[in-house]
Amino acid sequence: MVFPTHRPRRLRQSAPVRRLMAENHIVPSQLVLPLFVREGIQDPQPISSMPGQSQHTLDSLRRVAVEAAEAGVGGVMLFGVPAVRDAVGSGADDPEGILNVATEALQREVGDALVVQTDLCLDEFTDHGHCGVLREDGAVDNDATLERYVSMGIAQARAGSQLLGLSGMMDGQVAAIRSGLDAEGFTDTIIMAYSAKYAGAFYGPFREAVDSQLKGDRRTYQMDPPNAREGVREALLDVEEGADIVMVKPGLPYLDVLAEVRSAVDVPVWAYQVSGEYSMVEAAAERGWIDRRATILDSLTAFNRAGADAVLTYWATEAAGWIREGL
Ligand code: PBG
Repeated sequence: MVFPTHRPRRLRQSAPVRRLMAENHIVPSQLVLPLFVREGIQDPQPISSMPGQSQHTLDSLRRVAVEAAEAGVGGVMLFGVPAVRDAVGSGADDPEGILNVATEALQREVGDALVVQTDLCLDEFTDHGHCGVLREDGAVDNDATLERYVSMGIAQARAGSQLLGLSGMMDGQVAAIRSGLDAEGFTDTIIMAYSAKYAGAFYGPFREAVDSQLKGDRRTYQMDPPNAREGVREALLDVEEGADIVMVKPGLPYLDVLAEVRSAVDVPVWAYQVSGEYSMVEAAAERGWIDRRATILDSLTAFNRAGADAVLTYWATEAAGWIREGL
């Protein structure tokens, strides 16, 4: 009888041994909850393509943010859905605009317990649904958009946002917004750049979540799915421009890019488990095809293993609860 020299199974023999050997751990403080707040509604509106998620009123928004804080979640990322839209997204930098009003309310309510963050992009606020302002020929005007972003960033910082999530994919946006913030005295406002943000199919349900007006696609500014090297380049450029944190998005389908970015930069790297990823799991779980909780925890562990320092996930509060209960 020749005995195996190596027995990796030795370290898997029981739950206590496996627990001690775990290389990675997900913790509630590394989870960030994206939330939608809509202007002019009396009751929260369920988002049909994202079961369990809603467009919130200011009141219901406060409630879910408090729940997240109590569960130990690290932050909330706010998206605004305005009642009125126009070509330049005027609601975005209006201090009375829904996103800025909500930010102020949440900063007061939960600002001591978690990091209140805002999405910095024009797509929810424009009547054409693009992430920037348009030239006469219909193309998204990079440099004119930067001016709008700077104004939006200052309005968000003024409303109390501690961390701006730059999701518009305009060239030079990090440097422009950083210098705009600094000039207004907002030197402590954190910039998280969606550096490697890919165009593609996984944002589908989000379009319903924000009542997107987009016709067409974002392929002239978001990245092309085949390109990984380019994702690393975008991250390096953003760090050079002053980004405090970089992000890769979508999440699970782009873990290769996440791992490459992780090894290329020394700032925190975040991931966004986007709406399509959420809805696929919810749909399969609803049909009894997969174990919902186990699948969610597996997916969050995968981000951790690939090197993510934090993850934006619509399951943040629920997963934080499971982790705290030791499930
Ligand atoms: C743009 C933005 C989008 C998402 C986050 N920020 C939509 C897009 O780029 O089309 C998608 C998030 C998700 O799908 O969960 N403001």
